Amino acid sequence: MFSFQYHSPVQICFGYGARDTLGEVAGRLGGKGFLVVDPGVASSPLFKAYIESQTALLAGCFDKVEPNPSVGCVSRIAAQIRSTGAGFVVALGGGSTIDAAKAAALSAGGSPIEEYHSGRRPAGENALPVIAMPTTAGTGSEVTAVSVLTDPARGVKAPIGGPALLPRVAIVDPEWTVSVPPTVTAATGMDALSHALEAYWGVHAQPICDALAEKAAWLILDSLEQAYANGSDRDAREKVALGSLLAGLAFAAPKTAAVHACSFPLTQRFRLPHGVACALTLDRFLEYNTLALPEKLAHLARQLGLEGVPALAARIRTMKRNMSLPTTLADVGIHEQNLPALVAESFHPNMRNNPREVTPADLMAIYSSLQETH
Ligand SMILES: NC(=O)c1ccc[n+]([C@@H]2O[C@H](COP(=O)([O-])OP(=O)(O)OC[C@H]3O[C@@H](n4cnc5c(N)ncnc54)[C@H](O)[C@@H]3O)[C@@H](O)[C@H]2O)c1
Ligand SMILES: [Fe+2]
Repeated sequence: MFSFQYHSPVQICFGYGARDTLGEVAGRLGGKGFLVVDPGVASSPLFKAYIESQTALLAGCFDKVEPNPSVGCVSRIAAQIRSTGAGFVVALGGGSTIDAAKAAALSAGGSPIEEYHSGRRPAGENALPVIAMPTTAGTGSEVTAVSVLTDPARGVKAPIGGPALLPRVAIVDPEWTVSVPPTVTAATGMDALSHALEAYWGVHAQPICDALAEKAAWLILDSLEQAYANGSDRDAREKVALGSLLAGLAFAAPKTAAVHACSFPLTQRFRLPHGVACALTLDRFLEYNTLALPEKLAHLARQLGLEGVPALAARIRTMKRNMSLPTTLADVGIHEQNLPALVAESFHPNMRNNPREVTPADLMAIYSSLQETH
């Protein structure tokens, strides 16, 4: 017997051409919006033309979002939002941009962002409404109540979570992802796969999220390598964009687990892009967690058209090799002497969502196994 709750208040507009709904969506929110983008997106001709076509909706724009956005970057955006008097925020970009915009929308109507990031204040207060338009297929941030921020002063990268961080509307147009370069396609797609699998095996898993996770994993296994090999394959881009969205909805309630806990120091200390960091340990935690959930994970593997968990783990490793993602710690410049600090810094609270307890000795064994090719 079990009970569960599921709640997603985010309105979702999905499909090629969904970007054309921005005017109508913004019109319902009233007032003018504040646009948040990163320099890469702001300088690309496709996005430039789109932004120019939307200027009537906008009171201002911040176009300097950094990867793995910092609390300082969020404070600058929040100050600009306040000074323009904008009534809502439009995030056009990858997870870094959407996370920065969501956090700035919270801080603009509330307290300094450090208050939330340090855990002193819950992110449950009113925030300005956010319209999220993802341009990568990976983080699912357009439907999650999470913003992952870096605080260089404290040397941490960690999520803030709370209902105030949920976007009001997600406009997911696969067209935006067509220009994503192969390395980013690979990393972001593996991030989405990690969301699906961690939602499915996490201790707070539940049937609605399981169904979303299964479908998401199927779409990503089916099409990610095609999207990587041929970015203009519109069908593959659509399937991966849908997989990323469904994976975001899947993990919104159960949250993520050990793979994401480990990804934070891998990014903060060793500069691995988020999805690369997740991909590195994903197959190892699949194998590790099988002891806790043998039947459920075997069922998942069969749903994905594979014989069992070993075949699914092998499939993940093949995907990494096919997309030139690192498969060993040496590939990313991490050596034996780095492991004690890496283990110590990997125990983010998300680790407690893992279905099989992870001790420091277990984690040392997992990282040590990643020193060699599997
Ligand atoms: N909020 C959440 O629920 C959640 C979940 C997972 C990860 N994250 C966070 O999201 C961040 C990573 O986001 P990301 O993986 O989307 O990467 P990103 O937003 O950092 O973007 C990566 C690069 O891709 C470029 N780019 C984006 N869209 C493009 C396009 N259409 N064409 C060409 N280039 C494009 C950007 O300019 C940037 O250089 C990390 O900070 C991670 O921790 C958040
Ligand atoms: Fe992630």
